[in-house]
Amino acid sequence: MSRGAWASKLGFILAAAGSAIGLGNIWRFPFVTGQRGGGLFYLLYLVCVVLVGLPIMVAEVMIGRRTQSSPVAAFKKLAGEGSRWPLLGWMGVVTGFLILSFYNVVAGWTIHYSYLAITGFFAGQSAQGISQVFDTLVGSPRANIGYQALFMVLTVAVVIGGVRSGIERWSRILMPALFVMLVGLMVYCFFLPGIGEAVRFVFAPHTDKFTPGSVLEALGQAFFSLSLGMGAMLTYGSYLSKDARIPRSSTWVAVLDTLIATLASLVVFPIIFSFDLQPGSGPGLIFKSIPLAFSQMPGGHMLSVVLFVLIVFAGLTSSVSLQEVVTSSLIDLYGWRRDKVCIGAGVVGFAMGVPSALSGGKSFFGAGLKRMTGRTFLDWVDFSTANLMLPAGGLLTAIFTGHVLGSDITREEFGGGHSALYSVWQVLIKWVVPVAVGLVFLQSSGLLKVMGIGWE
Ligand code: TRP
Repeated sequence: MSRGAWASKLGFILAAAGSAIGLGNIWRFPFVTGQRGGGLFYLLYLVCVVLVGLPIMVAEVMIGRRTQSSPVAAFKKLAGEGSRWPLLGWMGVVTGFLILSFYNVVAGWTIHYSYLAITGFFAGQSAQGISQVFDTLVGSPRANIGYQALFMVLTVAVVIGGVRSGIERWSRILMPALFVMLVGLMVYCFFLPGIGEAVRFVFAPHTDKFTPGSVLEALGQAFFSLSLGMGAMLTYGSYLSKDARIPRSSTWVAVLDTLIATLASLVVFPIIFSFDLQPGSGPGLIFKSIPLAFSQMPGGHMLSVVLFVLIVFAGLTSSVSLQEVVTSSLIDLYGWRRDKVCIGAGVVGFAMGVPSALSGGKSFFGAGLKRMTGRTFLDWVDFSTANLMLPAGGLLTAIFTGHVLGSDITREEFGGGHSALYSVWQVLIKWVVPVAVGLVFLQSSGLLKVMGIGWE
């Protein structure tokens, strides 16, 4: 039975960009940047993408293409039966489920906002009215669970379609559409009075709100946004043909992803500053800012429909990649049928998402946990997957690729004729990535301070 393959190299780039570009860029990046005070955080983020993210992406795609397998089977093939490396693949499957579980809840919010946009709800609303819509939505268990289920059904529907006629086909249409929309919106936001302050906020490396925790947050955001550290890019690489150049394709994906996150910030922050909203207001940021712009502008009704529907689809091409890792792992290992695995994984992912769906209200998972620990259940799953599990997965992948896999294999997969570039990549994957990620972990766990070399 064939596992499936991308129709072309461009198909891979679009599908991988579809995985990378999602709520991480449009919802998560602006609110995290806002909480971290902008500027220096943006710079740190870029450093993480180039020095850590991109080398790991190359490594993941390499392992996938080499073995033509999903993560667990891939590590089995390369490290041999009886080795412990396949556990890294399993860790990816677990992380995938965890991310899927809260991702679908947030994606569910975007479905609700699409609905509100279609009904013309935002027109003429005040900033306060719009804020209230968000607070009411996240506080409603029924709406959250319903939308979460709906989004899971959409995800399963695409993944059942398979690699080429499911995932690739949708990415080809949706990614370019999202890009055009965001550029259009950015042009509009360019004429808002808050543009100057927004540009300064995002790009000027001011240090006032900077803490050591920002480094971990920037690293986590890079992993999350580039879909790294759990085998998603590895799985997508397993459908890639031998003639594709991995460094070049990966660079495209990273550049597109960073571009979309930047564009999203240049849409969100001008609105925030023009309407006197708070940049650090957390996960509700885009749900309170973007509708506000639409409520004021001519043609806002149409644009709001298009934008929110596109965000739903951007989320969809990402959740699809999370689901695909789980699905293809089980297919490769046990030979089960794709449709059965998809539906089963969908049900499990949905069930795991229920506590996140209940995180907005007064329940234990929401207000209760927040009072005790400072974070709701959803915030905890988001924080621990992005900032801990993905970097840990990436660190181990880097060690495996740099120190366990022979350089004959990595050189061949990297592609001939790039020997200088290959050497740079090797230094990054062998030393820079493990040391950088390791240090960030030590710092954030407080161990460096114990050893007397930490900084506040
Ligand atoms: N990168 C996606 C986003 O930015 C989310 C995502 C999809 C993801 N697949 C992943 C994150 C795998 C980590 C690992 O929205």
